[in-house]
Amino acid sequence: MTKGHREDLDKAKRGKADEFYTQYADIEKEMSDHLGQFKGKRVLCNCDDPRESNFFRYFAANFLTLGLKSLIATCQGHQQGRTKGKGPKRQGGKDPLKGDRALAIEINEVGGGLGPFAKDPSALLGRLLKNRRNSVRELSGDGDFRSEECASILESCDIVATNPPFSLFREFLRQLVAHDKKFLIIGNINAATYKDVFPLIMGDKLWMGHSIHGGDREFRVPSSYPLDAAGHRVDPSGARFIRVKGVRWFTNLDVPHRHKPLRLTERYSPEAYPGYDNYDAIEVSAVSRIPCDYFGTMCVPITFLDKYNPSQFRILGITDRQNTSGLRTRKYTASDSPKYNDLNARGVILTDQGYKPKYARLLIRRRDPDD
Ligand SMILES: C[S@@+](CC[C@H](N)C(=O)[O-])C[C@H]1O[C@@H](n2cnc3c(N)ncnc32)[C@H](O)[C@@H]1O
Repeated sequence: MTKGHREDLDKAKRGKADEFYTQYADIEKEMSDHLGQFKGKRVLCNCDDPRESNFFRYFAANFLTLGLKSLIATCQGHQQGRTKGKGPKRQGGKDPLKGDRALAIEINEVGGGLGPFAKDPSALLGRLLKNRRNSVRELSGDGDFRSEECASILESCDIVATNPPFSLFREFLRQLVAHDKKFLIIGNINAATYKDVFPLIMGDKLWMGHSIHGGDREFRVPSSYPLDAAGHRVDPSGARFIRVKGVRWFTNLDVPHRHKPLRLTERYSPEAYPGYDNYDAIEVSAVSRIPCDYFGTMCVPITFLDKYNPSQFRILGITDRQNTSGLRTRKYTASDSPKYNDLNARGVILTDQGYKPKYARLLIRRRDPDD
């Protein structure tokens, strides 16, 4: 396979992963710990077609319970985004919801009795738009969250809640931080290790939500999505779903685990916790194995972030090629191993079989009482 071909495939794969639609139950579950944080807020779902997004549906259906001030959803037109097709853009005539242009919908008032409509997005929209304080309009641009038009809508809002396109996760997060917004968004746990995301975690500006700590999550995919992976399903109506691993909520809204001390039940021994060869740290292979009596530097899996309580632990850095933590004590050369380049990208344990690089690890330390 040529490099160009591989890049095309990678791009197509990324493009497909941009079209995973979040399930209502997953949003409801994460929101169960954030209910009080949305009162009086303007909420924006800016990668969300109101005709199909469960984020829009959840916030519209729970508008009164949450005490929202307003709810805005924006989406790209079908030509730019989800279902690229041929031919000219279709204007929606009097009804923008019938066209395929980029849209903004704004909900400012919700009467009671939405219950019977909440399951059917178009019935819900019809009901909401009967109220003259609510509106839908075509955007003048393409609905890209990075456009000036969408950035100014973002500026007017308090909290962003969505599942952004996977391939644009960094840019999406960068924009939220630049605009100093609160957010509750879905991403892959590996995004935590990105060089522009990790400093936010270390700086206590970003953490993981409370409801997803492993396993996989089911997302609806477009009808054109090839169901060649394991763990897919088609429901009786023909809707397709796939299961995705590594999904996490990324947020800067407070969550309970940040205040709950992690229960530590293991005791340290040099035999059970080998030391690293290129960091002055011990290997702790699972979060449940963090010893209660060790106060030096420990290397733990990234899933530690699911339980991270900043009053109990301090994150010192991550094992990486650039040695951004400044804690690496040794750099390998060709005279150490032909794979010295790989070794320099990781924490390394010296075993009877030679150097063994570990997966990316967080470097952490217990806070002592007067820390
Ligand atoms: C992962 S899907 C999630 C959709 C919806 N938020 C949900 O959770 O069901 C990401 C959505 O963002 C849209 N999208 C892709 N690039 C975008 C961009 N630059 N600006 C706005 N939306 C974009 C995609 O078409 C897709 O519908």
